[in-house]
Amino acid sequence: MLTKYLLPALAAIGSVTAATDPCASEKGFLLNSQADATSLISNCKKVTGDVILGPNAGQAIDITGPSEITGDLTVLNNGVITSFRSDSLQTIGGTFTLQNLTLLTSLTMPPLTKVDTILFQSLPALGELNIGPPGITFANVITVSDTFLKTLNGLDVSSARTINIDNNRRLVAITTSLGNLTDVLRISANHPDLEVSMPNLKWIANMTIANVSTFEIPSLAVVNGSARFDFNKFTSFNAPNLTHTESGDISFVGNADLKDITMPALTSIGGGLLIANNTALQSVKGFEELKTVGGALKLRGNFTTYATPLPIVGLCAFADFYRSIDFPALDDVKGAFDISSTADISKSCDEFQKLSSGGQIQGTFACTSDNELANSDTGTGTSGTTGGGDKKDAAAGLSLNTVLLGLSAVAGIAMMW
Ligand SMILES: *[C@@H]1O[C@H](CO)[C@@H](O)[C@H](O)[C@H]1NC(C)=O
Ligand SMILES: *[C@@H]1O[C@H](CO)[C@@H](O)[C@H](O)[C@H]1NC(C)=O
Ligand SMILES: *[C@@H]1O[C@H](CO)[C@@H](O)[C@H](O)[C@H]1NC(C)=O
Ligand SMILES: *[C@@H]1O[C@H](CO)[C@@H](O)[C@H](O)[C@H]1NC(C)=O
Ligand SMILES: *[C@@H]1O[C@H](CO)[C@@H](O)[C@H](O)[C@H]1NC(C)=O
Ligand SMILES: *[C@@H]1O[C@H](CO)[C@@H](O)[C@H](O)[C@H]1NC(C)=O
Ligand SMILES: *[C@@H]1O[C@H](CO)[C@@H](O)[C@H](O)[C@H]1NC(C)=O
Ligand SMILES: *[C@@H]1O[C@H](CO)[C@@H](O)[C@H](O)[C@H]1NC(C)=O
Repeated sequence: MLTKYLLPALAAIGSVTAATDPCASEKGFLLNSQADATSLISNCKKVTGDVILGPNAGQAIDITGPSEITGDLTVLNNGVITSFRSDSLQTIGGTFTLQNLTLLTSLTMPPLTKVDTILFQSLPALGELNIGPPGITFANVITVSDTFLKTLNGLDVSSARTINIDNNRRLVAITTSLGNLTDVLRISANHPDLEVSMPNLKWIANMTIANVSTFEIPSLAVVNGSARFDFNKFTSFNAPNLTHTESGDISFVGNADLKDITMPALTSIGGGLLIANNTALQSVKGFEELKTVGGALKLRGNFTTYATPLPIVGLCAFADFYRSIDFPALDDVKGAFDISSTADISKSCDEFQKLSSGGQIQGTFACTSDNELANSDTGTGTSGTTGGGDKKDAAAGLSLNTVLLGLSAVAGIAMMW
């Protein structure tokens, strides 16, 4: 161990391990200037430990040298730095934090491909990422929040644990080769015209998507948890390959322009289905194969009497045309069934009443027309708060049938909402 004492003292902060390796430090390397960056790490191929940039390190910092930092790379609360660069860095083993850097306009790291956790937050001047190609293709956790980015070019992972993309007011496009995600994807409050395309996505644990203008998931087959779509601007929603959710809910609330939801391959929802206050949505007929709903089924909206305009008078003969809400394959709803519209949906209600009487709906049953307040009830509860309006189909009478058949409310399941 003699060599340990012969080595020059290292400038690494708190080199408590009396480093035998000048490129390793338990407490990390604090760089307070470009000169620090050059003297402390530029000769290292691999930096073992964290690298932290001091708040007054200067305007332009270049950390070219190492290809790997095993710990975190952190630039935090710095109102001075305008450009940050590395022409060598490929891997960051910990968290890459760029947070609260008001003047950072340029991030240039062409070789960077692998980061465990990305935290890019409050970067009001950062308009693009000069990373790659190929860019960061491996990351477990990604947060991009409150930046000036217009696209996420330079960041394209094929699988991840968690992704949060929010409050990027200029962000107009996300196209990702993401194939699967094990925890949660959240996209909200970016540019109102944000277009999201995930052509390769096969399965996703949970997703919460708000304020987007288009959303494409052509390959998505399974949602393990829940999928939630709120306040989006899309006019239609299509999940052509989605077959089931394993445990969670599917919900659409407050998507003001939504006219059409289609999930032609969906056979079961592990949790509940909530569709509420999508005021332009006049019919729900895109769930042709839906058989099983593990929770409650709750629909609220401006559903009309007629599902489609009738071009040929003779077609009036087909009862289907009178039903704006139709779940032709529905066979098992474990929770409550609760539908209410501002208009007359009695033809649909008649059909659903048969399901209730037939035992396919296990929870309480309610289906009401002409409820002025239908759109004001967007909660996940199904406790019959559908006040107001003229109820053509007496919910009470219908649920009485289920009581008589011994199939009334499964209270425990209703609580899942
Ligand atoms: C952001 O950084 C500035 C220094 O540039 C600091 O004064 C401010 O407190 C930081 N804001 C937050 C929320 O930490
Ligand atoms: C996750 O997606 C990636 C990229 O599409 C794929 O290579 C990988 O096999 C997928 N993993 C699982 C468990 O599906
Ligand atoms: C999600 O479901 C898919 C397909 O059933 C499965 O391969 C994957 O392991 C599940 N993922 C999680 C996180 O449960
Ligand atoms: C974005 O969606 C959220 C709900 O997730 C909503 O509260 C907010 O008003 C929306 N913002 C815009 C700009 O539409
Ligand atoms: C949809 O699913 C089918 C059957 O599993 C598959 O053959 C097809 O490639 C999928 N489509 C897309 C776009 O992934
Ligand atoms: C996401 O869904 C899974 C089911 O696959 C669930 O167990 C988990 O708690 C959810 N995670 C989050 C962060 O919502
Ligand atoms: C939805 O119904 C409400 C209440 O009747 C009404 O005020 C609103 O104009 C309707 N919206 C559309 C888009 O039809
Ligand atoms: C329903 O949506 C309209 C706009 O589409 C919004 O003004 C209203 O606040 C929403 N109601 C509820 C209860 O969320």
